[in-house]
Amino acid sequence: MIKIYAPASIGNVGVGFDILGAAIKPINGSLLGDCITIKLSENFQLVNKGTFSHQLPINHEQNIVWKCWYKFCKLIKKNIPVSIILEKNLPIGSGLGSSACSVVSTLVAINEIFNNPLNSKELLLLMGEVEGEISGSIHYDNVAPSYLGGLQLIIDDSKIISQTIPNFKNWFWIVAWPGVKLSTAEARKILPKKYTKDICITNSRYLASFIHASYTQQSHLAARCMKESIAEPYRSKLLPKFTENKQNIQKLGAISCGISGSGPTIFAVAENIKIAKKISEWLTKNYLQNKTGFVHICYIDIKGARKIG
Ligand code: HSE
Repeated sequence: MIKIYAPASIGNVGVGFDILGAAIKPINGSLLGDCITIKLSENFQLVNKGTFSHQLPINHEQNIVWKCWYKFCKLIKKNIPVSIILEKNLPIGSGLGSSACSVVSTLVAINEIFNNPLNSKELLLLMGEVEGEISGSIHYDNVAPSYLGGLQLIIDDSKIISQTIPNFKNWFWIVAWPGVKLSTAEARKILPKKYTKDICITNSRYLASFIHASYTQQSHLAARCMKESIAEPYRSKLLPKFTENKQNIQKLGAISCGISGSGPTIFAVAENIKIAKKISEWLTKNYLQNKTGFVHICYIDIKGARKIG
């Protein structure tokens, strides 16, 4: 029996739409992500547990976990039945890479129990494929950080899918999920098909400058570059009072604030724990829409998916 954990992630990281993703872990040591416990079995079995298991489809063949197993078996041309327990600790449609957590933990667990027939690139390609089927198009900015950990730059050329770039060790990442669902597929559909030359240039400038600032460890330059014009202007209306909230969070001392993935989670960056706590309290009071919502102060999770049992 093997147990695998895959962490939550912030897709886009405010400047790299579909290109940057950061794995995160709460500073209080709690697990913010999904777990898969797997063993070989006579036939395919799936048990859903965890805080958000009630959001999962009743029919197992509609569950991502089944899809992962089915696709994996097809790829290696062997039908090997397994028994799986999914601990669904992340809300679906939260913008924290919830589906990626399930996909990554399941595929890592299957690969492990089958004695690693796939290498890490093949595994990541399969993760992207499953994620693409769920969200409408392939994007690696949640599966790559959840699998590999750290801050990932999606390269996606013929040889390399993603590589780790330096992050800022003194940054606290505050994430607030308001307690409502937003479908990634829907949030992708509302985006324009084409962008003007000005927007393309501005976006490239900010992204290139962010990468440069990360390598040269210029924290304030990196934070100033976390602006994006591809998704935020169109998605901000889908989040509760996003523009007003962003301004308030910045007034509290956040050096950056944006939409986590496709939302509705908001993320903010603070340089010290005092400001991080202030932002966390403010978001708890003002951004959560119901009792299921939550706020976490996080570090970057540099480990990614891992065996925890
Ligand atoms: N890059 C993806 C998007 C992330 O913004 O649609 C989804 O979590």
